[in-house]
Amino acid sequence: MKSIIVTGGAGFIGSNFVHWVLDNKPDTQVTVLDALTYAGNRENLLGCDEARMRFVHGDICDVDLVDGLFAEADACVHFAAESHNDNSIADPSPFLRTNVQGTFTLLEAARKHGTRFHHISTDEVYGDLALDDPKRFTEESPYRPSSPYSSTKAASDHLVRAWYRTYGVPVTLSNCSNNYGPRQHIEKFIPRQITNILSGLRPKLYGDGRNVRDWIHVDDHSSAVWTILENGALGETYLIGADGERSNIDVLRSILEVMGRGADDFDWVKDRPGHDRRYAIDSSKLRRDLGWSPEHTNFDEGLRQTIQWYIDNESWWRSEKEATEAKYAASAQ
Ligand code: NAD
Ligand code: TYD
Repeated sequence: MKSIIVTGGAGFIGSNFVHWVLDNKPDTQVTVLDALTYAGNRENLLGCDEARMRFVHGDICDVDLVDGLFAEADACVHFAAESHNDNSIADPSPFLRTNVQGTFTLLEAARKHGTRFHHISTDEVYGDLALDDPKRFTEESPYRPSSPYSSTKAASDHLVRAWYRTYGVPVTLSNCSNNYGPRQHIEKFIPRQITNILSGLRPKLYGDGRNVRDWIHVDDHSSAVWTILENGALGETYLIGADGERSNIDVLRSILEVMGRGADDFDWVKDRPGHDRRYAIDSSKLRRDLGWSPEHTNFDEGLRQTIQWYIDNESWWRSEKEATEAKYAASAQ
């Protein structure tokens, strides 16, 4: 992989992946294609070796732009998406455009140029599990998405598989659980609570707080994606997870404790409509077939480092805080 396109490389996971590649794969050149929506930030790529990273400001739905970039690259790792469930409930339209039409545009370019294509997706395509269900999601779980966000991601997964089967485009897919780490947008659960506390606002917990998410450090997501890009079997899907199931209230109480607040210093707020109860990933296939394993398995330590990152980088998030909270206030969350 001498030359890769990373779509959405100015967002949370995409930018962490770009840093990971530049740090770990010295022979690879990276072209970031990113529209810099509200979720993208050019600053996320500060510190990258500019001799090995080119930034292209553009839209994955732009057929001519995408075609030109694919003509020159060995592979595309596709992170770009509208990624936040709550936004998708308020206005699904950009999710259809970017997640479905955008993925279609990239697949057509991959088909024309024979480009290796890795599609980044989410465990949310499988819907949710009951709290007491002993099962976890596997690659065989049925698709059962609940939200506009997860249904558009599901649609994009189906497009990718169809382009493999029908046209032979060399694809792989991965569906990962909830990521945490530096540079995550402050609309998401963990950074929202940290930056609320740093802003003198009370953290906000949806519903009964017992919903479970399966947390993975973003750097483990990056190493898994690279492993699949290099060694994954074409046409195959790999689930990525690090056995990190935790209830939201447990995560929030850990944040409160690290930040020196009381265990009940938060507000219960209105639940998210259609709120998925529990996600849980069985990543045996990736571990067994490709030999991957996560490195950042101490969640409390990773959470402490993430909290410290938001303390140290207030200038990165401060200007977004008011507008982000205003959006939540409009839906009483
Ligand atoms: P993010 O919202 O932080 O970043 C998305 C990036 O895509 C931004 O930089 C944005 O500017 C860019 N983008 C959006 N629309 C675009 C368009 N039309 N053209 C070009 N660029 C565009 O998202 P994230 O949390 O980093 O998620 C990245 C990917 O990982 C998504 O595909 C998401 O579905 C998937 N994923 C996320 C998680 C998670 O926990 N955040 C878990 C599993 C999978
Ligand atoms: P989120 O980060 O939006 O990720 P996802 O919906 O993709 O899992 O939310 C994680 C969990 O936290 C989810 O169960 C919703 C909940 N949540 C809150 O309780 N309070 C909040 O302020 C936010 C943003 C989310």
